[in-house]
Amino acid sequence: MNFTNLLIDVADGVALVTINRPAALNALNIDVLKDLTDAFSSLQKNDSVACVILTGSGAKAFVAGADIAAMQPLNAVEAAHFARLGHALMSLIESCPKPVIAAVNGFALGGGCELAMACDMRIAAENARFGQPEVNLGVIPGFGGTLRLSRLIGKGRAKELIFTGDMVSAQEAFRIGLANKVVASEDLLAEAHSMAAKIAAKGPVAVRFAKEAIDSGLEMDLDRAGRFEADLFGLCFATEDQKEGMQAFLDKRQAKFTGR
Ligand code: HXC
Repeated sequence: MNFTNLLIDVADGVALVTINRPAALNALNIDVLKDLTDAFSSLQKNDSVACVILTGSGAKAFVAGADIAAMQPLNAVEAAHFARLGHALMSLIESCPKPVIAAVNGFALGGGCELAMACDMRIAAENARFGQPEVNLGVIPGFGGTLRLSRLIGKGRAKELIFTGDMVSAQEAFRIGLANKVVASEDLLAEAHSMAAKIAAKGPVAVRFAKEAIDSGLEMDLDRAGRFEADLFGLCFATEDQKEGMQAFLDKRQAKFTGR
C-alpha cells in the first residue's frame, strides 16, 4: 500500500498508520481523507492485521484539524460534501472489525480530535492537547464531534469544550475520559504497540464481537442490547477459538487462537 499522505507499516499483526503532512501539522484535506478511507478499507480485509495504531508524523501534532486553507473558499454544498467524506471515514474506522488505537502525539484539534474519537482507544503523549476549536473559525464540528464527544465525556463537558473552543491537556483528557492513558512522549508508540500486541494475542472473532456489542449496544435500549450481546456470545461457540480458549484453560496452557 502506497499513499501520498500516509506511511503504513505492518508487522506482527499490527498495522501502524501514520498521517504524514507534518508541515501542516497533519491537517486533513480531501486527499488525506481519501487516503485514510482507502487504507482502512484495505486494512479491514487484511487477515495479517489484528489491530491498527493511528498516529501523526512529527512530535508536534496528531492532527491539528481539517485543513483550514482548503476549507476557507468552499461553498455550502462543497462544505457539506467535505463533512460527509469525513463522516464516512469516521464510521469506517469506528466499524473496523479490528480495534484501532489512536496514539495522540501532540495537537488533536477539530477534525483531529474527531478522528481520535472514532478510534476505539486513545493513548495520549504528555504533550497532547485535545479540543474542538471550530467556533473560533465561525463553524461547528463537522466530522462527528458533537456526537462522539458528548457520548465519550457527557453532554455538559462536551458543550463546554465545543462552546468555548478550549484545549485540554493530556492529563485533563484522561481525567474526563477522553484519553485512556497518558504516557511520556518518548514511550507513546511503544505503549500503543504493547496494547496492540496484547489485543492481537486474543481471539480475533471474540474481540470483533466485543467491539460490535459495545458500539451497537450503546445505540440500543438495554433489553435489545442484552439480547444482541447474548446472540453474539452464542455465536462465539461456532468458532474454533472458543473450543481452543476454553480447552487451553482446562489444560492449564496458553491458548493458540487462529481466528476461525
Ligand atoms: C491547515 C494548519 C492547520 C489546520 C496548523 N496548520 N493547523 N493548516 N489547517 N487545521 C499549519 C499552519 O498554518 C502552519 O503553516 C503550520 O501548520 C504550523 O502551525 P503554526 O500555527 O505555525 O504552529 P503553532 O504556532 O505551534 O500553533 C499550533 C496550533 C495552530 C495551535 C495547532 O496551528 C492552530 O490553532 N491550528 C488550527 C487548529 C484548528 O482550528 N483546528 C480546527 C480546524 S476546523 P505555515 O505554512 O504557516 O507554516 C476543523 C473542522 C472539522 O477541524 C470538520 C470539518 C467538516
